[in-house]
Amino acid sequence: MIHKCLFPVAGYGTRFLPATKSMPKEMLPIINKPLIEYGVDEALQAGLNDICFITGRGKRALEDYFDINYELEDKIAGTDKEASLNGIRKIIHECTFSYTRQIEKRGLGHAILTGKTLIGKYPFAVVLADDLCINPTGDGVMTQMVALYKQFRCTIIAIEEVPQDQIHKYGVVAGEMMRNDIYRINTMIEKPSLEEAPSNLAIIGRYILTPDIFGILEDIEPDKNGELQLTDALMKQAQNGCVIAYKFKGKRFDCGNVKGFVEATNYCYSNVSAT
Ligand code: G1P
Repeated sequence: MIHKCLFPVAGYGTRFLPATKSMPKEMLPIINKPLIEYGVDEALQAGLNDICFITGRGKRALEDYFDINYELEDKIAGTDKEASLNGIRKIIHECTFSYTRQIEKRGLGHAILTGKTLIGKYPFAVVLADDLCINPTGDGVMTQMVALYKQFRCTIIAIEEVPQDQIHKYGVVAGEMMRNDIYRINTMIEKPSLEEAPSNLAIIGRYILTPDIFGILEDIEPDKNGELQLTDALMKQAQNGCVIAYKFKGKRFDCGNVKGFVEATNYCYSNVSAT
């Protein structure tokens, strides 16, 4: 029912300079697997095999990664190294990949709007690969969200409680509790101060969006920095109809900064086989 998953990957990754000077931040490995592959794995597990990237200048390594490298494969054929490519081979075999470039970087909302040409008129998922989500005891976060979409048939966003001193980094939501892990949203603010924040429930980088989001993104005004905020469009969607926020099961690491990246690496080294 939902097949497409959009990955906005045009960001500069300035928190990881100088490493990201000439390589996409999404290619930085957690153990021996690039961050982006964790996100694509999660999408594929949820049945989303039509993978769409909103890419940009300096991101070609991503396209090469999701393709065959004949020379390398020939070199390691028949050796014990071959098995290390099993995961990525499976992804390449089972998914299709489409790319479009975000020429100007004008916020997450603008990145999603750039994806309109790849998505069309059906509901779709969005994964922000910086947020690495792992559920050691069951279904991945996107699988949980697809199940919820089947029930509610409206936009679903992932949320998590965050400490007060972190609130200003996120979109923050509040709404009517429908179940202990599900809220129907009535308020949403992008990166509020602690005083403005309607709760401590932060949006995490997993969304299922209904396609009316594109028309809303075309209409909303940019914020004071000239960026189109997805959160502002979601707030409109919530006012027009229904947006559900879901406290997912699992762990989330903010790999958009060095501390979170190192925590994810340590966690995966101890708990998850990376290959
Ligand atoms: C984006 C969204 C924000 C969300 C966050 C999750 O912010 O705009 O609402 O809480 O992702 O990671 P960014 O981290 O791109 O500034």
